[in-house]
Amino acid sequence: MGASLYIDDVSVGIRGNEILHHITLPVQRNKITAIIGMSGCGKTTLLRTMNRSIEKKAVTVNGDIRIDDKSIFSLSPQVVRQHVGLIFQKATPFPFSIYKNMTYALEYEGTRTKAEQKEIVVDCLHKVGLYDEVACQLEHDACELSGGQQQRLCIARALAVKPEVLLLDEPCSSLDIKNMLKVEQTLQTIKTNCTVIIVTHNLSQAKRIADNTVYMEEGAVVEYSDTAALFKHACDPRTQEYINYIQ
Ligand SMILES: Nc1ncnc2c1ncn2[C@@H]1O[C@H](COP(=O)(O)OP(=O)(O)OP(=O)(O)O)[C@@H](O)[C@H]1O
Ligand SMILES: [Mg+2]
Repeated sequence: MGASLYIDDVSVGIRGNEILHHITLPVQRNKITAIIGMSGCGKTTLLRTMNRSIEKKAVTVNGDIRIDDKSIFSLSPQVVRQHVGLIFQKATPFPFSIYKNMTYALEYEGTRTKAEQKEIVVDCLHKVGLYDEVACQLEHDACELSGGQQQRLCIARALAVKPEVLLLDEPCSSLDIKNMLKVEQTLQTIKTNCTVIIVTHNLSQAKRIADNTVYMEEGAVVEYSDTAALFKHACDPRTQEYINYIQ
């Protein structure tokens, strides 16, 4: 089951520079939410704040983020990352076999038998439409897969620990149309068990797959709405201008 998220008045500063300004955003469970906006508006920073991977010495985070009403700041970053997975733009497999990539986090958890692990591996590879492509080569080096296959492997790897929220940062930007559609299909499938947030520069993609869309500008949320409504008629002229500009 996916979790709901509530970003409550979050501001993030890096070396005294405020990058995100008072972001408040409800994220509905088991929906796909797209985040769109110009380069540098803070999309990646927001994703990294949501799974606590932003926090370093020079970074200050104010406000709260709740996952099913529990503050992520009351949990350790490691536990948050078990609940909230993050997949980067250039998702790279670990330099191991496909199978070991898939079981890496499960071994770390240390709670599954080998048979249970195998079942999870097969199930997650099926979910991303990769199983039939790699079934005979699970012991091969994952880095020998094509870019599109590597991207889907990284999504499958993230799914293995059953995250309640999956964050994806431009996961399709280096994929051809066929692989992009496969990833989109994967996201549609997994949203029954997981809440999905995807950053994309591809507005057609947001329209195709997102239930809700967020438009950000200069570190702030300008508009958040049902995707069809936002693309039909944005309420804020800044959103409309961005949509017109990109389309
Ligand atoms: N580690 C950092 N140190 C200093 N400034 C940073 C750091 N990371 C991000 N920033 C700044 O924060 C702002 C937002 O960056 P961010 O990467 O979140 O944008 P983005 O919307 O993801 O852009 P893009 O679409 O190009 O990926 C930018 O001005 C960037 O320069
Ligand atoms: Mg980014």
